[in-house]
Amino acid sequence: MSRGPFIDQVGIYLLSHSVGLPLRSSQQAAADSFWQPWQAADSNIWTHWLAAIQEFRTQLAILLNGDTASFCPQTCLSTAVAKIVDSLAWQTSKNCILLSEQDFPSIAFALQKALGDRVALKFIAAEADTSDIHVWDQHMTEDVGLVLATHVQSNNGRQLPVAHITALSRDKGILSLVDIAQSVGILPIDLDSWCADFVVGSCVKWVGGGPGAAFMWLSPEIIEHCQPRSVGWFSHRDPFEFDIHHFSYQPDALRFWGGTPSVYPFALAAHSLAAINARGVESIRAHNLKLADQIIDKLSPEQLISPLDPALRSGTLIVDFADRQPQLSAVLQQHQVHFDSRAQGVRLSPHLCNTEEQIARLTGLF
Ligand SMILES: Cc1ncc(COP(=O)(O)O)c(C=O)c1O
Repeated sequence: MSRGPFIDQVGIYLLSHSVGLPLRSSQQAAADSFWQPWQAADSNIWTHWLAAIQEFRTQLAILLNGDTASFCPQTCLSTAVAKIVDSLAWQTSKNCILLSEQDFPSIAFALQKALGDRVALKFIAAEADTSDIHVWDQHMTEDVGLVLATHVQSNNGRQLPVAHITALSRDKGILSLVDIAQSVGILPIDLDSWCADFVVGSCVKWVGGGPGAAFMWLSPEIIEHCQPRSVGWFSHRDPFEFDIHHFSYQPDALRFWGGTPSVYPFALAAHSLAAINARGVESIRAHNLKLADQIIDKLSPEQLISPLDPALRSGTLIVDFADRQPQLSAVLQQHQVHFDSRAQGVRLSPHLCNTEEQIARLTGLF
């Protein structure tokens, strides 16, 4: 059955928190900006490819209300995070990184391994209410040099009060790093209104832009304090200077770029980002909330693990069917409902590719 601009689905696809679906036009758009210049076999291949990457940065800047120069393409969040922390001058008296046990493990692994003994990770316990700013306040002690705030925690579907966390950390002289992997493309984000130092995200989930098109954003004030060690000629102020004895950083976020970049993932993702910008993320979120409410209406209060309040809710509902879970999971699979499970329950992520009729069919199976 056709779902507007989205590729046709078999069953009911509710996995946009994992891999968002592409648009029907995605393949052609990527062919136009990636394959065509290559097939043209002339000297302008890189001019076109770099324009595709620039378009990726431009669309991100529109979506997230930031400055294009503050965005740098990356392959995934973990690598971006490792490069960021390794670019900073750490004081021994402020060598703790504060994060939550509900954060995505890959980010914690990267933070730990990038710096080894130079930093210690300090965890807020999984049971703590990370939507309460007082919890963050208590943990932001003098030894903390950086705080990681995951805008949407994927295990519990909770939105964290990022603007409050970043404002508090700034007041305390602590740098802040925000992970928007689970919110970009579904929650309105205004980077200008957050006073974060670093933001990392990717396009594989709600953006529907495929894997490999991640990014970092750096606040204009922090850029000059970052001295990335993982660099390449695209991190150089003048990549074509070709003086092997001289390296000088790009003035903007591109100092984190590295060597010859990949192009295809960014060409693909730029198209999805442009589609989101054309539709408007507020309207996408309204659709998500409407379908999520339709699911919530059919649940008993104790089944809903993720927050009920739309202001705290992410794009994903976490639902605990308790003893019925194994049996119901089998029924959902039988009816080609595409979902996944975490310790606290099943994850259901209604997005633009879903309709009210699909959700009615889903809840009919509960
Ligand atoms: C909150 C969060 N951060 C990060 C990631 C992924 O990180 P990476 O791009 O390094 O794979 C995920 C993936 O599910 C996530 O949910």
